[in-house]
Amino acid sequence: MVFFTKSKFYITTAIDYVNGKPHIGHAYEKIIADVLARYNRLKGNDVFFLTGTDEHGEKIFRSAEKAGKDPQEFVDELSQSFRELCSVLSISNDDFIRTTDERHERIVQKILTRLYEKGDIYKGNYEGWYCVPCESYWTDTQLVEDNCPNCNRPVEKKKEEGYFFRLSKYEKPLLKLFKENKDFVYPPSRKKEVENRLKEGLNDLCITRKAFKWGTPFPIDNNYVTYVWVEALSNYITALDYPNKKFKKYWPADIHLVGKDINWFHSVIWPAILLSLEIKPPKMVGVHGFLTLDGEKMSKSKGNVVDPIEIANCYGADALRYYLISETAFGGDGVFSEQKVVKKLNNELADILGNFVHRTVILSKKFFEEQVPTPSNCTEIDRELIAAIKDAPLSIGKKYDELQLKQGLDETLELVTKGNAYLNAQEPWKNEEVRANTLYVCLNLCRNAAILLSPVIPTSSQKIWETIGEQGQVSSQNWENASTLALKPGHKLNTSKPLFKKVELKEQEESGGETMDNTITFDEFQKVDLRAALVKNVEDIEGADKLYKLTLDVGELGERTIAAGIKKYYKKEEIQGKTIGYVANLEPRTVFGVESCGMLLAAESGNNVCVVTFERDIKPGTQIS
Ligand code: MSP
Repeated sequence: MVFFTKSKFYITTAIDYVNGKPHIGHAYEKIIADVLARYNRLKGNDVFFLTGTDEHGEKIFRSAEKAGKDPQEFVDELSQSFRELCSVLSISNDDFIRTTDERHERIVQKILTRLYEKGDIYKGNYEGWYCVPCESYWTDTQLVEDNCPNCNRPVEKKKEEGYFFRLSKYEKPLLKLFKENKDFVYPPSRKKEVENRLKEGLNDLCITRKAFKWGTPFPIDNNYVTYVWVEALSNYITALDYPNKKFKKYWPADIHLVGKDINWFHSVIWPAILLSLEIKPPKMVGVHGFLTLDGEKMSKSKGNVVDPIEIANCYGADALRYYLISETAFGGDGVFSEQKVVKKLNNELADILGNFVHRTVILSKKFFEEQVPTPSNCTEIDRELIAAIKDAPLSIGKKYDELQLKQGLDETLELVTKGNAYLNAQEPWKNEEVRANTLYVCLNLCRNAAILLSPVIPTSSQKIWETIGEQGQVSSQNWENASTLALKPGHKLNTSKPLFKKVELKEQEESGGETMDNTITFDEFQKVDLRAALVKNVEDIEGADKLYKLTLDVGELGERTIAAGIKKYYKKEEIQGKTIGYVANLEPRTVFGVESCGMLLAAESGNNVCVVTFERDIKPGTQIS
């Protein structure tokens, strides 16, 4: 499936309830939408990206009451924190709609009048259940153990006269829409879910509320306000000034991006309203999964809500964006972990990307007077990497077109990893004959990686762009251009600034100031594979002033390479030939382009570092117990 080949691209997120501050789930949705918007701009599409806040309804009215605030004052404050979220996360939305905007309320009233004139609104009696947190109606049979089937919270009995929308009339046309549009709801499992419920039949929908006044006045009868979901869904066209010029230009939406809990509203209720208005349905409802915290649903009452602004301020918006996209495949649920944000920042952004760019630029400066070198005849190894560079935009773009954002991003990082491996194999700091070709290709890869990564990490991509001496904004480049070697010999480079700052993993803090229990079981200790290892070789690592690359003989485990931070404390000859204590089963990490497998043991006290060695001869590979 390739969706996004049109020249206009209209993408929306759900509009967020302003009954509390933004949480990580809101951030997740906005980031996915932003990646797609930025990617489509790079493809040359005319993008319109809409987000905003949902500010009416009983839930918000009650929240304002609880806070002792006037509802308007309450929503003004909170809506601002969602705008701040967009700004902190570098979200490139073109508009921000609020359902309390005059432009919105005015057009909602027009929409309702049209539905009424069409004969699709009638007066009747509602009797059933209502879930205030979800703002949804449920029948007896839909309840699960007397609770809301969506959020599992208690429901309230409602019995009131009101106005209904003839949803049932659109049952068949909706089934047809589902049948004829394979990708109407994506992923397919989410489509099936809705289709099955649709086949159970549709009841007409009560679209007015009388008990409170916090809503858009219902134009047919001013004793009522409009049901919050009807006016909320309308935001997708009120923001386009329906039915005028902008609407004609951008509608239908290419994708409504929403979470799985509100799929039904977007794939059934909204298309039914559009059918009644004789407007085309959106091309796709893209349904993402939920983020939980350590397997638990986030909620204010549990006190386990993650503040995305805090995370972004602490580690950088790009690190959060990168983590959220690369951690979970689109459509699946994910578990948010701050520790994993740090791990990805350190091990992938700093060690792979930052390291590649830094080494490439530093070496080019050192050997070619801050310029792109002139390549000569290509060898097989150059050709291999150039071929991978050429294929990348098409292959990665195909994944982005199919909403496989994680896979597209993984592939981009693989390309950079290939660049690091190429640099290590060529050793341009040592080998003069391959130096120009290697750095020419690597500098071009830096440029292309900046373009390909800019939808996910826009700020860092711009830094790479400037570091290699490019002008203007990387975001206004062309996606396909990332397949060419556009940096020409003689092009002047800029100063290389560190792209990512590594962060120490915070220890899990114990509550209440109690002493931390740091005992481990014997079994836990036995998991650590400690060995004696003979240091066969000690080398410098280009660009790293604190590290040595050690080649170790670990007997039955074979030869291992580690990067060790002992350069300040040991001369090469002081450590070469020694048998040292070594942790053999640590997860490998790439440090300055060196794959470090394990860790040596050393005692550190202030400025004194002492590597653990053996007094007597011991066979390499012997276990330490
Ligand atoms: N106001 C309605 C949407 C109206 S759209 C016409 C609403 N608001 S919400 O604030 O509750 O949710 C906004 C979006 O955030 C929804 O798409 C929702 O699915 C998503 N998420 C809320 N919590 C989430 C997670 N824990 N994880 C991922 N997304 C989550 O629903």
